[in-house]
Amino acid sequence: MGRGYARHSRVQRRAGDYGMPLLHRALDAVVLPEGGAPFRAADLGVAAGSNSLEPMRAVVEGVRGRTGEETPVTVVHTDIPDNDFNTMFATLLDAPGSYAHLPHVFVHAEARSFYEPLFPPAELHLAWSAIAVHWLSRVPAPVPGHIFSSRATGDVRRALKERSRADWEAFLAHRARELRPGGQLVVLGGACADDGTTGADGLMDAAEAVLTDLVRQGLLTSDEYARMTIPTWNRTTEEFLAPLRTEPLAGVLRVEEHDLVVLPDVLLDRFRETGDVQDYAGQVTAFFQAAFLPSLLAALDPGGPEGRAEVVAETFATGLRARVAADPEAVETHWHVVPLRIARG
Ligand SMILES: C[S@@+](CC[C@H](N)C(=O)[O-])C[C@H]1O[C@@H](n2cnc3c(N)ncnc32)[C@H](O)[C@@H]1O
Repeated sequence: MGRGYARHSRVQRRAGDYGMPLLHRALDAVVLPEGGAPFRAADLGVAAGSNSLEPMRAVVEGVRGRTGEETPVTVVHTDIPDNDFNTMFATLLDAPGSYAHLPHVFVHAEARSFYEPLFPPAELHLAWSAIAVHWLSRVPAPVPGHIFSSRATGDVRRALKERSRADWEAFLAHRARELRPGGQLVVLGGACADDGTTGADGLMDAAEAVLTDLVRQGLLTSDEYARMTIPTWNRTTEEFLAPLRTEPLAGVLRVEEHDLVVLPDVLLDRFRETGDVQDYAGQVTAFFQAAFLPSLLAALDPGGPEGRAEVVAETFATGLRARVAADPEAVETHWHVVPLRIARG
């Protein structure tokens, strides 16, 4: 994720806002380094970095507020190797007042999946991950007739749920090893209600309908369309908590707080104020493009004519804008988030 994400991640930023109180409590509770040793933090799933500025500033200020001195702080921003780390560094370094320019703050990046080990044992004092752990390590099977995992049924649904379980357990097991005793982990997890609804199903249905149109127009093959699946799984609260209630994790990680938050639709709220339907359709489409379109375009046959992906992307965007403008309320979206604060015992 790159510049597009930096510009169109207001929805995710709103989710991050709900994590800030948990982050402040984590900073109050974390066991601090002694003797001038650095405080080591990780930001897992950074994307373009735009939404990491505020929480990482809070980390530096929170630590120094407690130590009363300019404790050195290292922050490692991680993401998958395909992430646009150049844009990330540009965002972190160019933003006015960025935490990255505070004295004795050291900013690093690591290009590796958070479902793998990322740090040596007992390295981290604090880890933060916002709106990232619903991305699966891989899709076990495409969802027949849809792009979104919450629309999956039967064996495909079971396989997605199992992949999600294994990924979340791997994430927690690695962090349990990497956090120091007394360390803190704050996760804002992409979630769903107990009945499996994500609050984004209308938006995903609209995107699905546009892709079906592209197949009808001959711009996508039916095989490409059949492979298009967004590799996410929004977990229920129970799915987040289950591995933390049983050994081996229950003996090492302790859930300090959790919640289920239903986010407001910030784009629709603005449209209701302004009445500008074209602006609204453009914002919804730009959000979808930045967050999900790269996953869909990955399903295109390799070796097609030069510029084909751009044509598909542009035609898709035009179609989604038109659909949203024609029926703005149909894509009303209320993402669900489970904020979690977990202590390393
Ligand atoms: C929706 S963005 C959230 C970015 C940012 N934390 C925020 O709050 O806006 C999700 C990010 O998670 C990253 N991601 C997905 N799977 C990942 C994995 N296995 N390991 C590390 N990062 C991952 C994606 O590449 C993307 O940059």
